[in-house]
Amino acid sequence: MSELNNIALKIIGNGKGILAADESTGTMTKRLEGVHVKSSPENRLLFRETLFTSERMNDCIGGVILYDETIKQSSKSGKKIPELISNLTSVPGIKVDTGAKTLANSKEEKITEGLDGLRERLNEYYKLGARFTKWRAVYIISDKYPSKLAIQTNAQALARYSALVQECGMVPIVEPEVLMDGNHTAYDCYKKTTEVIKKCFDELELHKIDLKGVILKPNMILPGSSSGKKITNEEIAKLTIKCLKESVPSEVPGVAFLSGGQTEIEATENLNQINIHNNTNFIMTYSYGRALQQSALKFWSKDIKNIKGTQELFNHRANMCSLAAQGKWSKELENK
Ligand code: G3H
Repeated sequence: MSELNNIALKIIGNGKGILAADESTGTMTKRLEGVHVKSSPENRLLFRETLFTSERMNDCIGGVILYDETIKQSSKSGKKIPELISNLTSVPGIKVDTGAKTLANSKEEKITEGLDGLRERLNEYYKLGARFTKWRAVYIISDKYPSKLAIQTNAQALARYSALVQECGMVPIVEPEVLMDGNHTAYDCYKKTTEVIKKCFDELELHKIDLKGVILKPNMILPGSSSGKKITNEEIAKLTIKCLKESVPSEVPGVAFLSGGQTEIEATENLNQINIHNNTNFIMTYSYGRALQQSALKFWSKDIKNIKGTQELFNHRANMCSLAAQGKWSKELENK
């Protein structure tokens, strides 16, 4: 087994998943101000450290994606944040793209930037303790989007990023996120997501990426959020699995879904159904930001000194997600 494959399995194996705590300072400021907490470096660290030191981190969180600010911060106990995370037997990771910018000649779409100077930044993050990375490409859906241009350019950037990350001894998370916004059907989402992911793997293969050392972070297949259309969790699961079977090479060890605006319960229930119906060899788990943090953040914002209460909520969510990653979750367990 290659070292990269070992790292990937440590992150997503054994019913574990990923805590995405890599919100940029801008996004984190929106989240904190949304619950009336001042967005200072101290408060951003306090909330994140509260999550990282929760009891269920050990069993449920195989990897934590950090942001540049956090990977350089130290905990109350004086430990560097990546060291704190690896002591908990979780793997520290880092978001390395520099954001999605307007795509020239297709101005409604985005291209993710961050390749310039990436090799040097990766070496620095490796020295700080990171062993995996994240790069997010984002695509909109409509009858004409995502365009061939957006699909091609983002896939190429994801592949160039992956090559540099593996060269540096880390596992790349490849995140092509087809957004939920819009009034498209789940079938449209399935068609477009399949096309997007296929193109990503074409480029990854062209760039000679070791696919055993890659984790895919896709969206689930859902109807557009303003479509007013509802489908069952089982239908979501079956379409999602169909899409992945048709687009992901079998060497890839696993898939860690983003929550992408689903509620905590929706993201958990859908993941559970995916695992109940999973007839592939891929591990299917979570790499959630909002769906792991939302209720903890809301509670914490009422009294930022109440660490224990905040951790109880996070522990519960992490536990529910881990059960869903094994197809063992049920609604009744939510209220226990
Ligand atoms: O890149 C997206 C984040 O890492 C996942 O966030 O689960 O809130 O969509 P989300």
